Amino acid sequence: MKRAIAVLIIVGWVLSVFAAEPRYIGAAKCAKMCHKGEKKGSQYEIWRKSKHAGAFTTLGTDSSKAVAKTVNVTGDPQKAPECLRCHVTAFGVKKELIDSTCTYSDGVGCEACHGPGSEYRKLNVMKKHDMAVSAGLWEQKEAVCTRCHNKESPTYKPFDYSEAVKKDAHPVPAKTANK
Ligand code: HEC
Ligand code: HEC
Ligand code: HEC
Repeated sequence: MKRAIAVLIIVGWVLSVFAAEPRYIGAAKCAKMCHKGEKKGSQYEIWRKSKHAGAFTTLGTDSSKAVAKTVNVTGDPQKAPECLRCHVTAFGVKKELIDSTCTYSDGVGCEACHGPGSEYRKLNVMKKHDMAVSAGLWEQKEAVCTRCHNKESPTYKPFDYSEAVKKDAHPVPAKTANK
C-alpha cells in the first residue's frame, strides 16, 4: 500500500512537471539565455531593429491616432484592445501566464511568433525540436503570421508569407548550431 502511494506521488509529480502551463517570459530573457551575439545568429539584435519590436511604440504616434479614427476607435491606441491585440505580445492571455518581464513595450516579441517560452527555454528541451514543441514552442507556419497580418488590420497590406519571412530572418548559423 505504501509503495502504491509512493508510486502515485511520483507519477503525480512527473505529470505536474510536464503539465506546467508555459508562460510568456519576454524577449530580454530569450536574449540573455541564448539568442544574442553573432555566434548565435544575433536573433535579439535583428529583432530589436525590426518593426515588430517597435509595434507598441507605433501605437503612440499621431498617425496611429489618425488610423484609430478611421475604425472609430476613440482614445489612446496604446490602451485600446482593438489595437493592442496585434501590436503587443500575449494580448488577451491570462495574467498568471505572463511574467512581469514580458511587457507591452517589447511590441511583437519573440514569443508572439515562437510561443510562450518558460518551458521550452531550458537547453535540454530546446535542443530537441519535438520536446520543445510539446513544451510550448510553436511550429513556424503562415498561420502564425496571419493571426495579425490579415484584413482586420486597419492598414492592411497584402501579405506574402514566403517574401515576408525573408525580412528580418534570423537563422542560427550552420556552423555554430547546437553548440
Ligand atoms: C502579434 C501580431 C503579429 C504577428 C504574429 C506577426 N506580425 Fe508582422 N507585424 C505586426 C505589426 C503590428 C507590424 C507593424 C509594426 C509597426 O510598423 O510598428 C508588423 C510588420 C511586419 C513586417 C513589415 C516590416 C517592414 O519593415 O516593413 C513584416 C515583413 C512582417 N511583419 C512579417 C511577419 C511575419 C513573416 C510573421 C510571421 C512569421 C509576422 N510578421 C507575425 C504584427 C504581427
Ligand atoms: C489584426 C491585427 C491588427 C490590428 C487589430 C491592428 N493592427 Fe496596426 N498593424 C498590423 C499589421 C500587421 C501592420 C503592418 C502593416 C499592415 O499589414 O497593416 C500594422 C501597422 C500599423 C501601423 C503602421 C502603418 C504603416 O503604414 O506603416 C499603424 C500606425 C497601426 N498599425 C495602427 C493601428 C491602430 C491605431 C490600431 C487600432 C485601431 C491597429 N493598428 C490595429 C496589425 C493590426
Ligand atoms: C515575426 C515573427 C518572429 C519574431 C518576432 C521572432 N521570430 Fe524567430 N523565427 C521566426 C521564423 C518565421 C523563423 C524561421 C523558422 C523556420 O525557418 O522554420 C524563425 C527562426 C528563429 C530561430 C532559428 C531556428 C533555427 O533552427 O534556425 C531562432 C533561434 C529564433 N527564431 C529565435 C528568435 C528570438 C530569440 C526572437 C526574439 C528576439 C525571435 N526569434 C523573434 C519568426 C519570428
